[in-house]
Amino acid sequence: MFIRWKYLIAALVVAPILGLFVAWSGLVSIGARSGHWAVTDWFLHWSMQSSVRTASLSTEVPPFDNPEMLKLAAGHYEAGCAMCHGSPARERSAVVFGMLPVPPDLKPRVPTWTDAELFHIVEKGVRFTGMPAWPAEHREDEVWSMVAFLRKLPGMRADDYRALAGLATPSGEVTALGCQSCHDEERLNGRSLIPSLAGQSPEYLRQSLSAYLKGDRASGVMQAVVNGLSADQVASLSAFYAAMPRKVLAADEKNPNGGSVEDGEKLARSGRPADRIPACLSCHEKPDGNPLYPSLSGQSAPYLARQLRLFREEYRGGTQFHHLMTRAANDLTDKDVEDLAAYFAARNVNR
Ligand code: HEC
Ligand code: HEC
Ligand code: HEC
Repeated sequence: MFIRWKYLIAALVVAPILGLFVAWSGLVSIGARSGHWAVTDWFLHWSMQSSVRTASLSTEVPPFDNPEMLKLAAGHYEAGCAMCHGSPARERSAVVFGMLPVPPDLKPRVPTWTDAELFHIVEKGVRFTGMPAWPAEHREDEVWSMVAFLRKLPGMRADDYRALAGLATPSGEVTALGCQSCHDEERLNGRSLIPSLAGQSPEYLRQSLSAYLKGDRASGVMQAVVNGLSADQVASLSAFYAAMPRKVLAADEKNPNGGSVEDGEKLARSGRPADRIPACLSCHEKPDGNPLYPSLSGQSAPYLARQLRLFREEYRGGTQFHHLMTRAANDLTDKDVEDLAAYFAARNVNR
């Protein structure tokens, strides 16, 4: 018995050394061309499935009740996923067939996962495969939009995809993804999760774009498209959108979440000192105000509500003054958020 223990300990010591030696010898190929052994493939995918299944057990799936989730996600899919997975409008690039594992065509794969599982794959990525994590932390809202989009992907036609992602002009001409794919005023409406940039000050737009570039304002969607913009491009894009008039929302689409415009107005004008909530209008919408206080009037209610929640949870960065807004949003209740969003969405764009 004593002898056996000695062998076992010797084996425990020798095995890792032997392993290191084999790796050092260079005899193990790390090339991707020959593929994995079938058992390795099976093992990797099985561990991924198990890990995703366990991680998603306690995840609560929000309702996919806003069709505008699809536009934001389709645009991001084009910017951040289509090169590997292909899209209804293009095949996977030939280059990715040399990856190990090859990024799969998602159409047959999506139905094999639940919503919560898709959420975890897209939010966390998959280690050892090249499947990246969402580019920004604490943007579960964006990831859920992507899940809503993936659900629709299996049956989506090329034209529908281009229409959602803004890859076609109104006359049907096919274009590449650009700022206007998402921010074109004509594509926005009262449920939009993509903001109108029209009429914001150039200073606010410029500082917001630098914040995305530096990672100081978290949005996977915007961070994926600002990468590589030069300071000149940032300045000219900011001037372009600042000079544009903001579209006026149709009266019947201003308040999709049903917040109380009256309660919102009261809070915006007077604040609520007992809860340390300042009057929003003491900073926003003043004709001679600080150009870094953005214009909110006529912006869609779902976008405004989403940003207010991000400020409240302290996840939203931005310009050099963003901390002022974090403080202003700190003690808002969910009802306050919806009321304020409804009030500002309905407010006259021309102040
Ligand atoms: C650099 C290439 C690459 C990019 C970019 C990429 N993926 Fe992946 N993705 C992969 C690879 C490789 C796998 C396979 C992982 C595996 O087999 O375990 C994968 C797996 C997946 C899966 C699980 C499919 C399955 O059943 O195995 C989903 C869903 C997915 N990706 C969605 C996305 C979305 C959405 C985006 C964009 C936000 C994205 N991917 C961006 C490479 C990529
Ligand atoms: C795929 C869609 C998409 C594309 C393409 C896109 N954006 Fe955005 N943009 C968004 C979304 C969504 C947000 C809101 C992000 C957030 O929550 O911070 C946003 C926010 C912004 C903001 C901040 C607005 C505010 O009120 O604070 C600016 C500025 C902006 N985008 C400029 C641009 C420019 C310039 C380009 C082209 C280089 C561009 N965007 C391309 C979707 C897009
Ligand atoms: C002390 C001045 C101040 C007060 C008071 C204030 N804000 Fe702000 N607000 C700001 C600043 C500065 C920003 C820009 C944040 C950044 O740097 O991105 C902002 C941004 C916002 C945004 C994001 C707009 C966009 O385009 O993304 C919303 C929504 C907003 N404020 C709503 C409100 C509401 C509602 C109130 C009242 C409860 C309020 N603000 C009170 C200064 C203020």
